[in-house]
Amino acid sequence: MGLLGMRRGRRVNAEKCVKNRHFVATERLFFRTPTEWEMAAAQAAASDLAAQRWIGWSAEAIVPKTDRARFLAVVPGTGPDCEWPDSACLVAIHRKANRCAGMVTITRDPGGWPELGGWLAPAFRGRGLGVELFRAGLVLGHDHLGLSRIRAAAEMTNMGSRRALYTAGFSTVDGPVTYALQNGRIMTPCWYEHAVTDTQSCSGPRPVTLETATRRPYSRA
Ligand SMILES: CC(C)(COP(=O)(O)OP(=O)(O)OC[C@H]1O[C@@H](n2cnc3c(N)ncnc32)[C@H](O)[C@@H]1OP(=O)(O)O)[C@@H](O)C(=O)NCCC(=O)NCCS
Repeated sequence: MGLLGMRRGRRVNAEKCVKNRHFVATERLFFRTPTEWEMAAAQAAASDLAAQRWIGWSAEAIVPKTDRARFLAVVPGTGPDCEWPDSACLVAIHRKANRCAGMVTITRDPGGWPELGGWLAPAFRGRGLGVELFRAGLVLGHDHLGLSRIRAAAEMTNMGSRRALYTAGFSTVDGPVTYALQNGRIMTPCWYEHAVTDTQSCSGPRPVTLETATRRPYSRA
């Protein structure tokens, strides 16, 4: 048994997209569809109070404080391969530290649009990596999943996220005035969008949930 009480898997190091895995590279990070252990590390990365203040996961998704350091110590590329059918998600791996630094995801938002989300582990925040994280999400959406429009919502007061989204190339747009987080908290979002005319699709996985993402105009609710 491995570090997390799960069976030990083979190492994953391919630097290109294959049938069950995407690969994206930025200056200081690279991104891959996570193994089971990398997903556990990514969940630990956003389980602290400071991140949950903005993300608001349901209680069962939060990694207990006592396990976080152990999960975050996972060696990237290890652990069993896994399919993630509900979202396109990439674990961010910091090249120099050789550790999981966070995650970027594309899910369907409540209006049916592809929505980008992301986070960094506490040790990797405040170093300008959020811009790389969100840019990688745009590359995943536009150049790997063939999505022409990608939305993002950040709480009005989450200035770090808003600034990183803006610097990554997002523009502000209208959207619903409230947003319900998984834990039931209703937040006041600022909406962002990034649109391109040319898209591409790669050989990597495409979640079924994104196949039916709507293309109708967004209405304020
Ligand atoms: C959002 C997140 C990925 C941003 O990553 P980051 O690069 O570490 O963000 P930083 O703290 O460096 O802040 C980005 C920018 O916002 C600025 N900023 C941060 N807090 C700010 C504040 N309170 N007021 C004004 N500007 C602020 C920073 O100075 C920086 O500006 P710069 O681009 O000019 O250097 C990261 O903070 C994170 O994971 N947060 C927890 C989870 C989260 O909020 N996810 C997003 C949900 S929408």
